Amino acid sequence: MPPTRYTSRAVDPSPLGSPLTLPFSSVVLQNRFMKVAMTERLATWDPDDINASGIPTQQLIDLYGHWGDGGWGTIVTGNIIIDPTHLEAAGNMILASSPLSSLNTQTDPRFIAYQKLAAAGKRGGSVFLAQLNHPGRQTEFALQENPVSASDVQLTKGIGALYAFGKPHAASLDEISHIKAAFVHAAAYLEKAGFDGIQLHAAHGYLLAQFLSPTANLRTDSYGGSLTNRARLIAEIADGVRGATGPDFVLAIKINSVEFQDAGFSTEEAAQLVALLEEHRFDIVELSGGTYESPAWHHKRESTRRREAFFIEFAELVAPHVERARTFITGGIRTVGAMVDALESGLDGVGLGRPSATEPRLPIEILRNGQKGCIKPLVGDTNVLGGEDSWGVGASLAGAHMLQISLNQQPIDPSDQTSIDGFLKGFEKWVAAFPKRSKREVLDHVRIETVKPRPYGVVESSTA
Ligand SMILES: Cc1cc2nc3c(=O)[nH]c(=O)nc-3n(C[C@H](O)[C@H](O)[C@H](O)COP(=O)(O)O)c2cc1C
Repeated sequence: MPPTRYTSRAVDPSPLGSPLTLPFSSVVLQNRFMKVAMTERLATWDPDDINASGIPTQQLIDLYGHWGDGGWGTIVTGNIIIDPTHLEAAGNMILASSPLSSLNTQTDPRFIAYQKLAAAGKRGGSVFLAQLNHPGRQTEFALQENPVSASDVQLTKGIGALYAFGKPHAASLDEISHIKAAFVHAAAYLEKAGFDGIQLHAAHGYLLAQFLSPTANLRTDSYGGSLTNRARLIAEIADGVRGATGPDFVLAIKINSVEFQDAGFSTEEAAQLVALLEEHRFDIVELSGGTYESPAWHHKRESTRRREAFFIEFAELVAPHVERARTFITGGIRTVGAMVDALESGLDGVGLGRPSATEPRLPIEILRNGQKGCIKPLVGDTNVLGGEDSWGVGASLAGAHMLQISLNQQPIDPSDQTSIDGFLKGFEKWVAAFPKRSKREVLDHVRIETVKPRPYGVVESSTA
């Protein structure tokens, strides 16, 4: 039986297939689809040997090869960490800070692995971007007890309460300068390895978002106070990256269009920020929303539920302030109707997270095979809230799918009851193991053990 899909209004998908030229790098995206960042946690990990950690594995390379064949205009990796002492999670890809001048590109295993990763992600013509991240205060206590942030404001609410993050210290000017250098080094390193560009992660409450946020950034020096000051770190990184990379290197950023937080980073500020980003020659601005303190990857308003994209009402306020940079919107988009609507609202493209793990070839399905909607999962459905439709279940399903693809297996059909029962069994086991996890273990992803794996590319559902 073919999978069940979200139903869309009748619509011509061809605007989604039109190429897009980026304003500063002049790179051309083959279409408007972006596979957005999703942390894979599939890199090497040894807490006692950070030099052996964070190297892309063959599984990661295979995962990106399948996305590379999927017809995406742009592929963004999951967050790659620029400071080995501040991880988003064990199993993250990490960049070494040793100078490029001493790098042996013929023998260095990390460099060679990144080269293979870029080649796999680009093999179908997608523009391949590395998402660079420093989590700041959002790093697990077990891995870093003394995190750095804009100020010493601890994250204790929302998802923050669940993870028990340490109390951060305010970054010294020396630390800021090291952080900047690490971002710039990472971009130059990855350009050498064959990446088309980078995306700075300045959304969802990570370090660059902590600097932007009036609640996390209480500084009184030139990195705090006005929006220009709070965005200074981003601007200086951007200028550094432009100076260290070639003219056709793509510079992108992911920001929040709204934080749903009292006194948090606001939509008005996001509108001012995009104008500033253009001055620093960002090619692409991806608009998202929410933080660990106030998660928002679901519908907060009835009015957005009707339009699918969680942040569309905010993105529409931000997009008119952008003159040259290309804007993408991410979060909740599931039908071709909503995708085309986003373009008609003035955005240049659509970002897809969870659906890209369910269907790595989604752009081909839509542009060539006439599909009008993403596969509708029986759990983790973005249009419903709570219980089996909570963010945690949906995100875990995406993780389980990524794991399957990385093992060259076809991701289970989440609209099929037998398959979803298998996933839920694995999910229960994964949740039970969570508190017992040691520092050595990667949190990894839910394993679906009760459904016989099919080789990648075999698409019938288990009840067929
Ligand atoms: C498993 C998983 C991991 C994620 N990791 C990242 C990440 O590394 N960086 C990031 O910017 N967003 C991350 N996100 C958020 C997604 O990029 C996206 O903003 C969110 O899933 C909403 O889009 P969607 O409704 O199309 O899934 C992650 C989401 C999922 C499901």
